[in-house]
Amino acid sequence: MTTVLVLNGPNLGRLGSREPDVYGSADLAALRTTLEAAAPSGTTIDLRQTDDEGELIGWLHGAVDAGTPVILNPAAFTHYSYGLRDAAALVTKAGLLLVEVHLSNPHAREEFRHTSVISAVATGVIAGFGFDSYRLALDLIVRRTTI
Ligand code: DQA
Repeated sequence: MTTVLVLNGPNLGRLGSREPDVYGSADLAALRTTLEAAAPSGTTIDLRQTDDEGELIGWLHGAVDAGTPVILNPAAFTHYSYGLRDAAALVTKAGLLLVEVHLSNPHAREEFRHTSVISAVATGVIAGFGFDSYRLALDLIVRRTTI
C-alpha cells in the first residue's frame, strides 16, 4: 500500500468560492474525489489543507519520517516561505518525490507570483492545468514509485 500526501497551503480551503475565474468552481472535496478515482488500487490519497505555515512544515517532516511522496501546492507560501523551502528540501534530499503543483499558471499572472522559492528543491513542477496539475503529478509519482 502506497500513500501519496497531497498538501495544500493557505486559502485553498476556500476553493470553489475563491476567485472561480482563476481557480475553478470545484472545491477541495471534489479534488479529493478526483484523485481517489484516479489513484490505482493500493494507492491511498492523504489530502490535507492548512493556512498555517508551521503545520505545513510539520507535515513535510512527517513525509520524510514515513517515506511518503508528496504533491505540494504551497499556494502563497510558494513565493516567499524559506521555511517551507527548507522543509521541502528535506523531502527530496531524503530521495522522496515532491511535485510542486499549481492550479493556475503563476507565470501568466502578477509579477510577485513569478518567483517560486520551492521549485529549486522540488523534484519537478506542474502548473496551469487546474485539477489536472494534481492528476499529472499523481500519475508521475505512481509511475516512478511502482517501477
Ligand atoms: C496557486 C498560485 C499562488 O500564486 C496562489 O497564491 C495560490 C494558488 C495556484 O494553485 O495556482 O493560492 O498556488
